[in-house]
Amino acid sequence: IKVQDYRPQAFTDFTKEENVQAYRAALQKVRAELLGKHYPLVIDGERVDTAEKLTSLNPCDTNEAVGTTAKATIEDAERALQGAWKAFDSWKKWDMDARARILLKASAILKRRRLEACALMSIEVGKNYAEADVEVAEAIDFLEYYARSAMKYSGFGSSETTWFEGEENGLMSIPLGVGVSISPWNFPCAIYLGMLAAPIVAGNCVIAKPAEDAGLIAGFVSDIMYEAGLPAGVLQFLPGVGKEIGEYLTNHAKTRFITFTGSRAVGLHINEVAAKVQPGQKWIKRVIMELGGKDAMIVDETADLEVAVTAALQGAFGFNGQKCSAMSRLIVVDEVYDAVVGQLVERAKGLKVGTGEDNANVTAVVNEMSFNKIKGYLERAPQEGQVLLGGGAPGTHDGKPGYFIDATIVGDVKRESPLAQEEIFGPVISVLRARDWQDALDIANSTEYGLTGGVCSNSRERLEQARAEFEVGNLYFNRKITGAIVGVQPFGGYNMSGTDSKAGGPDYLANFMQLKTVTERW
Ligand code: SER
Repeated sequence: IKVQDYRPQAFTDFTKEENVQAYRAALQKVRAELLGKHYPLVIDGERVDTAEKLTSLNPCDTNEAVGTTAKATIEDAERALQGAWKAFDSWKKWDMDARARILLKASAILKRRRLEACALMSIEVGKNYAEADVEVAEAIDFLEYYARSAMKYSGFGSSETTWFEGEENGLMSIPLGVGVSISPWNFPCAIYLGMLAAPIVAGNCVIAKPAEDAGLIAGFVSDIMYEAGLPAGVLQFLPGVGKEIGEYLTNHAKTRFITFTGSRAVGLHINEVAAKVQPGQKWIKRVIMELGGKDAMIVDETADLEVAVTAALQGAFGFNGQKCSAMSRLIVVDEVYDAVVGQLVERAKGLKVGTGEDNANVTAVVNEMSFNKIKGYLERAPQEGQVLLGGGAPGTHDGKPGYFIDATIVGDVKRESPLAQEEIFGPVISVLRARDWQDALDIANSTEYGLTGGVCSNSRERLEQARAEFEVGNLYFNRKITGAIVGVQPFGGYNMSGTDSKAGGPDYLANFMQLKTVTERW
């Protein structure tokens, strides 16, 4: 059987009533079957429980515990690392195709359980139907895409070398060893799975540390990987606290690589710790990072303003702005500033606030720390610009306590202010007024980040200038700046936004392999 070419999953159309009904039924099923569930650690194929637990709360109703996971200790982390190295001895010898088939099988299972995974995220992190659906589609895409990428590496000499008389030359791609994957809560299904599936299919063993706020969905998809036939020890499921086990494993001499998606501050710390060679360490640790952004979209006077406003709303408020790709700066050329901002505020007033389960546009942010951080920015906002919409942090909705923050638009934000420079990770748009197009592009580039960016313009010349000069890893014209599709828009930033490792791109697996050139003289 020939494996079909990769094609991204289609998204579900929730304007169709039958799809809404199916989602509601899945929510009921998940509430009945998964709520209150406990996920132990999985080390060497064994379920291991711990004295302490991590509780995952429903951010839209913090009185509700969604479930619990074990909380790994340093001893558990040590055991997971040693066990993974044992498993590596045989996993590295598996044929690429055979490893890839496990990903394809996992993808088939996740396709069948797509709605359950979505519903669980609506409850655990407050995703609305479309946001959850797009994420599970992305998770499936990662499995399918990385499986096919791996198949291309199958066999000796699969990478090209130049012909040379009298010799056979070949380039072998070999796995690195055991690595740690530290993943974020904002895409706890797709990024969690992508960050472990890529190194695993390349022949490495992985200790996966899911985010503390989203341990249930991580447990759910890890079980799918085991069900698909992953041998014991290849994927060690290790929920715990980053500062404890994440730090321990990052330091460890036997850790070969670290793949991390999260904040700039934590990423830079990991990079520093990993750079220090420990006694007995045989390699330079490889660090692959996706960090934050202060992503901007420019609207100039030639743009279709309706397209621009739609793009701004989708890019800024999708999943409450809790995406590293979210549009948090809207830079508008003076000539159309009032028109754009007027339309934006009017349309944002129509956003529905509520829970993920109710399929609201704006739901609660993930946890208390995020809530307090965003609230701090909102309190200072009147000094940094003009609050045009929202600005409050009610912390409740419909009589229930939850981390609810108003969808907020702040106009005429000062260029050097924290609102214009720092990642907020919430439903807050800072609008900056530019004198003209060139000024707008200069403002866009006046950040240390370089993740996503966008331009809404009908000037061919300006789009071409932006193509060359807008300093971001993912640049979008005349559309929203979020929602990269695996294989279609390889995703990742540079500058302080990460190591430009391009998840869902043709070279991503190479991050987890090393090359060996072998020459035989005949
Ligand atoms: N890949 C996501 C996006 O493009 C962010 O992580 O929005």
